[in-house]
Amino acid sequence: MTKYIGVLTAGGDSPGLNAALRGLGKSAIGYHNMSVIGFRDGFRGLVENRTLPLENATLSGILTLGGTILGTSRDKPDLMPVGSKVLDMTEVCVDNYRKHHLDVLVCIGGAGTLKNAYLLHKQGLNIVALPKTIDNDVWGTDVTFGFDTALGIATEAIDRLHSTAQAHHRIIIVEVMGHNTGWLALGAGVAGGADIILIPEIPYDINIVAEAAVRRWREGKRFSIIAVAEGAMSREDAAILQKAEERKKQAKKEEKEAAKAAIAELEAKHIGNTMRLAAELETMTGLESRVTILGHLQRGGTPSAADRLLATRLGTECTALIDKGVYGVLVAARGEGSKAIPLEQVAGKLKRVPLDHPWLESARRVGTCMGD
Ligand code: F6P
Repeated sequence: MTKYIGVLTAGGDSPGLNAALRGLGKSAIGYHNMSVIGFRDGFRGLVENRTLPLENATLSGILTLGGTILGTSRDKPDLMPVGSKVLDMTEVCVDNYRKHHLDVLVCIGGAGTLKNAYLLHKQGLNIVALPKTIDNDVWGTDVTFGFDTALGIATEAIDRLHSTAQAHHRIIIVEVMGHNTGWLALGAGVAGGADIILIPEIPYDINIVAEAAVRRWREGKRFSIIAVAEGAMSREDAAILQKAEERKKQAKKEEKEAAKAAIAELEAKHIGNTMRLAAELETMTGLESRVTILGHLQRGGTPSAADRLLATRLGTECTALIDKGVYGVLVAARGEGSKAIPLEQVAGKLKRVPLDHPWLESARRVGTCMGD
């Protein structure tokens, strides 16, 4: 019997999303004789029943395209802004799944999407998830598609910034995305030969950072490149945030909202952290400092060959699992192959850079200052 697949892309867009849709769609239609329908703009399209039939013609010519032909959003089924209200639309998701007589809904996204996918799985829907994000922070998978492309873009940016830093004898701070993890900043920092790398997993001491830049100057290297993850924090800020998070965990029901608001305030204060860091370093070292924020450039454009391969591999593996009736899983990349991991094992978890990771070890061995 023909199986009916629904698919959506959710969260931040990421290079390789279209390659995954193509791999999934083409193998479903041509190899497994299934039928595929896409929902537009993530979970919002599922709620609003806005669809795009995915046929061979729609899936052709998209392998190399950035973005996602389905569109995406950060909307959550259970906390969806509708007019002036925020409503729980989980039931509507379930109804629309049934209306289309779906056998399975494939959710392509990052850590946030996996939580939403698990929520729908608990409502009795057949769900399979694919791991995409430039942040590489999805627990259970070796790597996510989008990461390799973003890593290449950030590395090239560091390469290019070297000449200005050197010519003007400046400190140049490059802010790299990655949300609360440091995979991108660490990877691009090591590959681009950054002199100092700051990541959220290692709260930094600004005195150590300043000393490293001054030491380089004294040794005749009159410039420094600092790769800083957007979520990197000083030791002081990290301690304040940790306390606030502990308070939230222990808070009674009526205190929860206040505790959440305190964390949101700290996070809002963190925006602009890189600019503050540059100003502080300039004062402390007397060296001219400049900031480059790479931002959404890292999510744009054509996916790398490695991301196209990974997305195609996981997309086609996804339909093979659906064919076997394997649901409620994340299709994780493991070495050259893949592994189906139950959603309950991955939802709500984050893959942070382990403190003994080989990239980190290598960075230290070539003399990179990690701010600690
Ligand atoms: O998750 C991908 C990501 O690019 C993060 O690195 C970044 O923190 C976030 O999305 C930015 O989100 P938005 O595009 O919604 O501003």
